[in-house]
Amino acid sequence: MTELLKALGDEDVGMNDLAKIIAKDPSMSMNVLKIANSAFYRLPYKVATVERAVNMLGMREITMICVACGSYRALMPSRNTQTFSYDEFWKHSVATGVIARKICRELRIGDYNIAYFLGLLHDVGKIILDRFAHDIYTIVIQTTFEECVPMIEAEKRLIGESHDVIGGFVMEKWKLPEVFADAARYHHSIMESPEYNRAAVATISLADQLARVREFGFGGDKSGVVFSETEAFKVIEGVNPEIADIDIFKFVYELEAVNDEIVEMEKILIA
Ligand SMILES: [Fe+2]
Ligand SMILES: [Fe+2]
Repeated sequence: MTELLKALGDEDVGMNDLAKIIAKDPSMSMNVLKIANSAFYRLPYKVATVERAVNMLGMREITMICVACGSYRALMPSRNTQTFSYDEFWKHSVATGVIARKICRELRIGDYNIAYFLGLLHDVGKIILDRFAHDIYTIVIQTTFEECVPMIEAEKRLIGESHDVIGGFVMEKWKLPEVFADAARYHHSIMESPEYNRAAVATISLADQLARVREFGFGGDKSGVVFSETEAFKVIEGVNPEIADIDIFKFVYELEAVNDEIVEMEKILIA
């Protein structure tokens, strides 16, 4: 993944070089092919080689696939050391991605495939904290459950920093496009995000809350939310007022239809 990210920052690197780097890693190649052939991209025919996949989907899409799969793999701890359920965590992440993509597509805001990956990685700071501040993070999770406080509050109180800031910091280090770092860093504090990325950040924040309401997975805490009163809703409304016409309950109900997509992506990422 490091080699891949370095190559992407280099303007002289072409599609073929990229395909070669990916092909060196068999499990990364497998994931690229699985995702390229999944319902997610709905390609008119099956692709059998990494070169073909890179050509069909383009460098940016391929990078996002590799980063998503790679970060999952790199950050996966052994079963007996995790503080919370990683399966539930990734379910929540995939659900947030799928919902963000649906919001973007329906309201024609930004690039909807990017929205998917932003959603997928928005809470990556939680995994990093669990991995590198494991003992104290165990207490954070305990506190969240026992005191029914949002995770971010327990993190700030006990660690002094929270998963959003940590996630943003790491994505900056990974040299991902700025919108990735912003989506992670500001998904709990939208109005602090730079204006040019605020609509993307708001989409992730709204998708995060909807994913939690649907209880697709463990998002850290559960709370009753009136969506039209959230900052995220208001920011998106500023970009496309049509959001006000969406019946949010119907929208959430219709998410049943994306369940298959969530299950499919989970299988690819978590397998
Ligand atoms: Fe979060
Ligand atoms: Fe989340």
